[in-house]
Amino acid sequence: MRTPFLLASLGLLASAADPQPSSAPGQPFDCGTGTQSADQSYLDTIQQLHDGKAKGSLAARAAVLAAHDDPGKIQAIFHIVMTNAANDSITNVMPQAQLDSLNAAYNPYNIQFMLQNVTRNTNDAWAVGKGDDDTNMKHTLRQGTYNTLNLYFQTDLVGGVLGRCTLSSAVANGKGNPSVYFNDGCNINANAMPDELMDGFNKGKTAVRETGHWLGLLHTFEGYSCDGPGDYIDDTPIESTATDGCLTYPKNDPIHNYMDYSIDDCYEVFTGLQVQRTESMWSMFRDGN
Ligand SMILES: *[C@@H]1O[C@H](CO)[C@@H](O)[C@H](O)[C@H]1NC(C)=O
Ligand SMILES: *[C@@H]1O[C@H](CO)[C@@H](O)[C@H](O)[C@H]1NC(C)=O
Repeated sequence: MRTPFLLASLGLLASAADPQPSSAPGQPFDCGTGTQSADQSYLDTIQQLHDGKAKGSLAARAAVLAAHDDPGKIQAIFHIVMTNAANDSITNVMPQAQLDSLNAAYNPYNIQFMLQNVTRNTNDAWAVGKGDDDTNMKHTLRQGTYNTLNLYFQTDLVGGVLGRCTLSSAVANGKGNPSVYFNDGCNINANAMPDELMDGFNKGKTAVRETGHWLGLLHTFEGYSCDGPGDYIDDTPIESTATDGCLTYPKNDPIHNYMDYSIDDCYEVFTGLQVQRTESMWSMFRDGN
């Protein structure tokens, strides 16, 4: 069993949090951050896309992607943020291993991340990712535009989480000003990088899931219920709890889906409609911003 933690939403931006495994067994799951902390533009959009009404649905999206030189290529910046005590824990080969893990997951869907830069910082406050310190860190470190993926790998990420990330939204639309979206990006527990300390979760798949949020996806168990819209995506079986480990229960749970909470070895797929959702969200919110 894992214990999800509610995290404060990150300012104006929608965010989603993922728990890390807890040693305390038998605790019920509660809702981590997801639609509860999403902003209105995100919520309206997933509803409309689900209903097939959004302007970003197929034709418009195809036009945007066709106009693009390299539709599937996304610029990424990794920020390694360590405490003094852990200041040599992330080796120079880990960012490349993390990139490889990310691309191994996304390449089958024609999405490719291009690592533009790796920053390394030793800062006890930033490595924890809390409140104003997190804001300061992102103000200082974030690079690129709203369509640049910024991943912060923090050695002491607060809240017992593997990671958390902002969801894509209209925050940057037409504004061209980094000050409105400096918070955009994913906080990831550095111990979940490939070959790092966290058994079961050290093959880099936390970054895959967080990036899924960044691309606009919710958890497959969003809502923690077998009723309701779930993740607003029709080809992911509805799931009332997060998967723990890699066991199927009940039978149809999408335990191999990157947007569940399985162990890294269990992850295999995104569905066709999840991929389509990321493309719609990209064309509506990130492309050109
Ligand atoms: C890392 O910590 C060691 C020992 O505490 C120290 O000697 C070294 O200068 C530190 N390196 C950085 C980059 O802060
Ligand atoms: C990489 O990041 C550093 C800051 O750590 C910055 O000075 C440099 O310009 C960046 N390089 C590129 C190619 O963006």
